[in-house]
Amino acid sequence: MSEGVSQPDQLPAAVPAAARQDLFSKFDGIIRTREDLLAGGVEDPFNLVMEQVLSPTRAICNGRDTILLGTYNYMGMTFDPDVIAAGQKALADFGSGTTGSRVLNGTYRGHREVEDALREFYDMDHAMVFSTGYQANLGIISTVAGKGDYVVLDIDSHASIWDGCALGNAEIVPFKHNDIEAMEKRLRRIPEGAGKLVVLEGVYSMLGDVAPLKEMVAVAKANGAMVLVDEAHSMGFIGPNGRGVAEEQGVMDDVDFIIGTFSKSVGTVGGFCVSNHPKFEILRLVCRPYVFTASLPPSVVATAATSIRKLMGGGEKRARLWENSKRLHGGLKALGFTLGTEVPQSAIVAVIMPDLERGAAMWEALLREGLYVNLARPPATPANMTLLRCSLCAEHSEEEVGTILGMFERAGKAVGIV
Ligand SMILES: Cc1ncc(COP(=O)(O)O)c(C=O)c1O
Repeated sequence: MSEGVSQPDQLPAAVPAAARQDLFSKFDGIIRTREDLLAGGVEDPFNLVMEQVLSPTRAICNGRDTILLGTYNYMGMTFDPDVIAAGQKALADFGSGTTGSRVLNGTYRGHREVEDALREFYDMDHAMVFSTGYQANLGIISTVAGKGDYVVLDIDSHASIWDGCALGNAEIVPFKHNDIEAMEKRLRRIPEGAGKLVVLEGVYSMLGDVAPLKEMVAVAKANGAMVLVDEAHSMGFIGPNGRGVAEEQGVMDDVDFIIGTFSKSVGTVGGFCVSNHPKFEILRLVCRPYVFTASLPPSVVATAATSIRKLMGGGEKRARLWENSKRLHGGLKALGFTLGTEVPQSAIVAVIMPDLERGAAMWEALLREGLYVNLARPPATPANMTLLRCSLCAEHSEEEVGTILGMFERAGKAVGIV
């Protein structure tokens, strides 16, 4: 045995129990909050099981037929017959998984095909597929912005963006949500010659509000920054071709990287980055969350490629989704609920609750009515808000939206919110 390694008879005396630090003690606050909430008899809003999924808009929860208004299945692609058939065929032809990284044995024909579909969808030169959208942000941000560079980001950015910043070595400079002036001020203070990456989202998922990308991208470019836009909640729906808010606001050519996910409008799982940067392909060798993880299963990339190609012709679904969003937003407002945005800006309609207790009670009352929405609470929400986040699907019928409004009215009265 080498020097410096303790022999059993030389082990330090056991640390007294009282002085031992339980590493879980940092969670005591959240454990208490959760126990208090459940002690009131409320069902656990973060532990719901969907016993059977009947369609993009309905599932059996607690033995009851429930309308789904809290999924990100915006375009209703999860039960599309072509998407399912493509997945089944790939499963039969290529097996259940790749068991390897994209840079070793984990690139199958299907991975190339889904990247082709993305290039076509966005009309961009390069597309790189990750195993999740979370990893796409983690990988691109931490790799592109290195030591000595600056990442300037909206304070309400998604956790995956913050975690991408934490994984990298760049200086992190947050600015007030959607505040163009604040962003410009931060950019101006960055030392001359430093690399700058501005990170924005098309739609912010908590309140469903849209970024003023046109102005922000112009300010970023005027200050010599590269721009990354996460279009997770706008892909497939916003913009004439469903490319997102950057397309809707006419700034696609000035955006350096678009991040997206397959877990929302595409209807499966996976993440990606598309770009026109001429050196983009080198990221496949240097981006750790791309290299050091297994690639997506063949069935998943096959469903994603089929879904993305179908979304290119998704104009009619986009129109229906807008109608649903406007109908729900207008109806909830008329009932007296406080909403996250003055007018509907996306497929997300956030209902602001007075506090967590009433938010949880309202969530449960809605579930009893047969409606599932997302309960969102700090730290995921801005300004410590408790929200009931409703996300619409193109496949919700007009009648279903009417039913949903009736459920909100009854639950809101029962809980004393309206
Ligand atoms: C803005 C944003 N970016 C990225 C992600 C991560 O996507 P994924 O579910 O593919 O990991 C999400 C997921 O909720 C998101 O809302």
